[in-house]
This record gives sequence, structure tokens and C-alpha cells, in this order.
Amino acid sequence: MSRLDTNIERLVAQRACLDELCAAITALAGPVVELGLGNGRTFDHLRERLPDREIFVFERQPAAHPDCTPDDAHLIVGDFYDTLPQGRSRLPSPAALLHSDVGTGDAARNAKLAAWLAGVVPHLVAPLGFVASDQPLEDPRLTPWALPDSVRRGRYHLYRRAS
Ligand SMILES: C[S@@+](CC[C@H](N)C(=O)[O-])C[C@H]1O[C@@H](n2cnc3c(N)ncnc32)[C@H](O)[C@@H]1O
Repeated sequence: MSRLDTNIERLVAQRACLDELCAAITALAGPVVELGLGNGRTFDHLRERLPDREIFVFERQPAAHPDCTPDDAHLIVGDFYDTLPQGRSRLPSPAALLHSDVGTGDAARNAKLAAWLAGVVPHLVAPLGFVASDQPLEDPRLTPWALPDSVRRGRYHLYRRAS
């Protein structure tokens, strides 16, 4: 697979997973949380799909186009290791949906961050809320949720938080 193919597969999988969970949270109250603003692509997609939900984004170095950057009240700037342990206090209520898109080209760094995030993410998500992640998150409070048929296993990761 070329790097172009890999990138296209990642983005198509990401969109399919986010669309699936945007539909799944219809009956759940709570905001959306995104970890990793990047270029603001998925933030923009989520706000288009979920116009009535508040979306809070955590990012250490916001650099997206201003059109795809949340306002100050919805952008929590800082390293996840500093901001997420108290992250729940920045939200009006636990999240109905959390999207974690934090990967870089450094597999060892991704694995270390994912292992840490797995223990923190459940504190930010409402009971029976959903999580989509570019990295596998292993925690007993997060039950794997079936991927859309179009998404290759392991390409993206969906979970439902325990009640
Ligand atoms: C893959 S990009 C996100 C792409 C974005 N979802 C999009 O669709 O454009 C990952 C983002 O996570 C941020 N990030 C990675 N590790 C971080 C950390 N430890 N603390 C805060 N932000 C971090 C990076 O700065 C980067 O903007």
C-alpha cells in the first residue's frame, strides 16, 4: 500500500467511524470531546454532523485554519498529560462522544500515549457514551464496539463506556 493509499484509507475509515457514532449518540446527552485538533478536519466534520452539540477540543499547539479552530471557551490548550487529568472540570457534563486522534509517525510514542489515555478517557465520557480512537485503548471500562463494515479491523477503534 502506498502512503497515499494508507492516508486515504485512514481518512475514509475515520469518517465512517465518526458518522456511525454521531448517529449512535442521538439519545445520549452531553458534549463532544476531541483530542487532537491538527488541521481541524475532524473537528469541522463533527460540528457539521452535530450542529446542536458543544464540541471541546484539547490540543497542545493549535495550528488549524481559523475557520476550523474552536473558540477560546471550547479549546483547551496544553499537553494532554497536563490538561486531561483535570479535563472533566472544563466540560459542562461528561461527553456523549470522545474522538481521540493523537497519532504521529512515532509508533513507540503512540503506544505510550495510548496506554496512558486509556486510563484517563473513561473519566471524560458519560456512562454508555462512545469513543472513537486512532489508537487502541485498553481499559476494562471501554468495551469494543463493532466497526462499520467498510472499515478494516485495526484501522480505527470504537468503544462504548460501561454504565
Ligand atoms: C493526527 S493530528 C489530529 C488531526 C485532526 N483530528 C484532523 O482531523 O485534522 C494529532 C494532533 O494531536 C496533537 N497532540 C499529539 N500529542 C499531544 C499531546 N501529548 N498533548 C496535546 N496535543 C497532542 C498534535 O499536536 C496534533 O495536532
